Amino acid sequence: MTESTATHQPIARGLRNVIIDKTALCLIDGQAGRLLYRGYDIHDLAEQSTFEEVTYLLWHGHLPSPSQLEQFNAALVAARGLPDSAIEVIRQVRTAHPMDALRTAVSALAASDPDVNDMSTEANLRKGIRLTAQTPTIVAAHHRIRIGEEPVAPDPDLSLAANFLYTLHGQRPDPEAARAIDVDLILHAEHGSNASSFAARVTASTLADLHAAVVSAIGALKGPRHGGAAEAVMKLAQEIGEPERAKAFIAQKREQGDKIMGFGHRVYRVEDPRARHMRDRARELGEKLGQPKWFRILTAIQEAMSPLAERGVSVNVDFYAGAVYYLLGIPEDVFVPMFAIGRMPGWIGQVLEQWEDNTLIRPLLDYAGPDNLEYVPLERRV
Ligand SMILES: CC(C)(COP(=O)(O)OP(=O)(O)OC[C@H]1O[C@@H](n2cnc3c(N)ncnc32)[C@H](O)[C@@H]1OP(=O)(O)O)[C@@H](O)C(=O)NCCC(=O)NCCS
Repeated sequence: MTESTATHQPIARGLRNVIIDKTALCLIDGQAGRLLYRGYDIHDLAEQSTFEEVTYLLWHGHLPSPSQLEQFNAALVAARGLPDSAIEVIRQVRTAHPMDALRTAVSALAASDPDVNDMSTEANLRKGIRLTAQTPTIVAAHHRIRIGEEPVAPDPDLSLAANFLYTLHGQRPDPEAARAIDVDLILHAEHGSNASSFAARVTASTLADLHAAVVSAIGALKGPRHGGAAEAVMKLAQEIGEPERAKAFIAQKREQGDKIMGFGHRVYRVEDPRARHMRDRARELGEKLGQPKWFRILTAIQEAMSPLAERGVSVNVDFYAGAVYYLLGIPEDVFVPMFAIGRMPGWIGQVLEQWEDNTLIRPLLDYAGPDNLEYVPLERRV
């Protein structure tokens, strides 16, 4: 019996294979391992585009002209700063997990956003620019504050990716480091109806505002089944310690029935097409920084997991992303916020798409509890 009618319907647990709407944002072909943003292949975007351009593409549906991109970049750069009230909130939660601090600070930003209740597309795009530009500032500022340093003022001459590294570490990154983060953000920018984007759509479908939808998404991203995988992968690599130990270690984990983080995906049945770009960056950075060991451990884990490929469990984007972050000195608990920085344009794009033709997202549950119980007044209960 469903909660509201007596008709029996099949239950789609986890909404597996349920199509909830149409989208023009991205195509994920899980059988072929193909990913397109607005029709453009992820490999072309990872090799040739920038995070700023991909953000424009996702929201506007086409690649920008040079002047459109210049204007868009200028708007993103101008929006990087945080109001004092948000910095104050970050100081209050300085000991919190960076994802909790991010969620709290984004929520606080709603209080000072001049467009918070304006639901026009123009206002939502302005808010989208602010949220995309302010998220890396929040993550970096929280990290600086918790280690007893002051936040670093954004540098308008740096890209969003380079500026993030600069405001996190207080030193301008070299071009390879900045490009590795730029590519990482491009790869994370959009991915269909994943749990956090779905959460954003559910909230948006009630006609709550954009900040509320993004706060829902950040909450959903935090878990190890979604955004937490990269952090878990690097912990695993550290536990393994040496490439030669990977095979036996993974065999033992699998015997215990443990899932290996960074493998498997609800949609991909073959290797996640985003993984190769992070694999290349992890190898290059490891060699450049004189730390090739991590890449060798990850390769050995991937080798040990290869028998699962025939069951559709292959490496996903987060497997090598953790090594890239680690090599760039990003603290492990900032790995999930990195995903949030990258996914922000996708969340916003999905919310805008939801509002183009909104319908309340409200599925049913199959009631499996008791029926017709007699209510016993409190004084007669033992
Ligand atoms: C992402 C994830 C939640 C998808 O879950 P899912 O859609 O239920 O997974 P599937 O239906 O493809 O799983 C098929 C089988 O492979 C197993 N499997 C899936 N991922 C696995 C993993 N990472 N390690 C070991 N076994 C795994 C499942 O347990 C299942 O086994 P069963 O048939 O014996 O029950 C899951 O793969 C996972 O937890 N991966 C690790 C976390 C991670 O990397 N997340 C980031 C995703 S980008």
